[in-house]
Amino acid sequence: MRRGSIVRITIYGVLAGIFASLVAVLIPWLPTSASEQMDRIEFTFWFTTVICIAVFAVVAAVIVYSILNFRVQPDDFSDGPPIHGHTGLEIVWTAIPAILVTAIAIVSAVVLAKNDDAGPNPVRIAVTAQQFAWRFEYPGDAKFTSGNLVLPVNETVKLTLRSLDVIHSFWVPEFGQKSDAVPGIETTLVITPNRKGEFPIVCTELCGLGHPTMRSAVRVVDRAEYESFLAGPATGGGEETSGEAVFTSAGCGGCHEFEPAGTDAQVGPSLNAIDPGGQPLEDFVRESIVDPNAKIAAGYQPSVMPETFESTLSDEQLDALVQYLVEGQQ
Ligand code: CUA
Repeated sequence: MRRGSIVRITIYGVLAGIFASLVAVLIPWLPTSASEQMDRIEFTFWFTTVICIAVFAVVAAVIVYSILNFRVQPDDFSDGPPIHGHTGLEIVWTAIPAILVTAIAIVSAVVLAKNDDAGPNPVRIAVTAQQFAWRFEYPGDAKFTSGNLVLPVNETVKLTLRSLDVIHSFWVPEFGQKSDAVPGIETTLVITPNRKGEFPIVCTELCGLGHPTMRSAVRVVDRAEYESFLAGPATGGGEETSGEAVFTSAGCGGCHEFEPAGTDAQVGPSLNAIDPGGQPLEDFVRESIVDPNAKIAAGYQPSVMPETFESTLSDEQLDALVQYLVEGQQ
């Protein structure tokens, strides 16, 4: 091979490498990490990306060189020369990718194992998914529950996920991992938040009409703020017994328009001006929550709304929710 050819192939390779590197670096492919697990995932991502860019540069350089040097002239109708394989070349282009793929597999396996390791004493929070809301139950005797997730920064948390109806999937993009919540089994997710702030919780499994509204938020705070949150409303925390809080944590706003709560979803009937159809309003509202198929508003389908609220809401919460809806009538 002539020296000039090697120089040209090298130049093509460097240009292709620079182009691919710019695509990798300039586009924000990943959200900014907020957990140790996401940091490890980012390392795996960049480790793999660097390898891919190197392979791309070599392949692109050879292709560009071949296209420019070996293309047929317009009047050339002859057959190409018969070529046998090149054993040395084939060994090289099999061995090098095999080594690279093995390296990626080893790095990924180490990251997976570390990301699954909750350590000896994690903060344990039970997550319940239900069409179309998340509920979080915190450790301690009080069995404190909330529709939002609050986590102490720099402490490892082990979430146990379960679902009351269909498959949902828990995902906080800034935390990097996700896990399905599957009816009948318990799944887990380990998170060590390392950045304070508020991040979205997204359901990433198509779970019904309200799926796109099945969102919540996670707040990562100091240990002291976490404890005051758990201690309840007297100290600035979030007890979930006001009607408005139940409306939010039970996910009503995912499907229903209700002005006092500031929601405008159109999956189910509007709750702004409920027509009890001759029944006392309060009775009708209560019946519609615990037995949604008892009466179906015109233009809506039965069996869309979950039928589990009688068991998932306490009597106190149900009373508060009914009052909240009755008082919000226009
Ligand atoms: Cu729950 Cu999608």
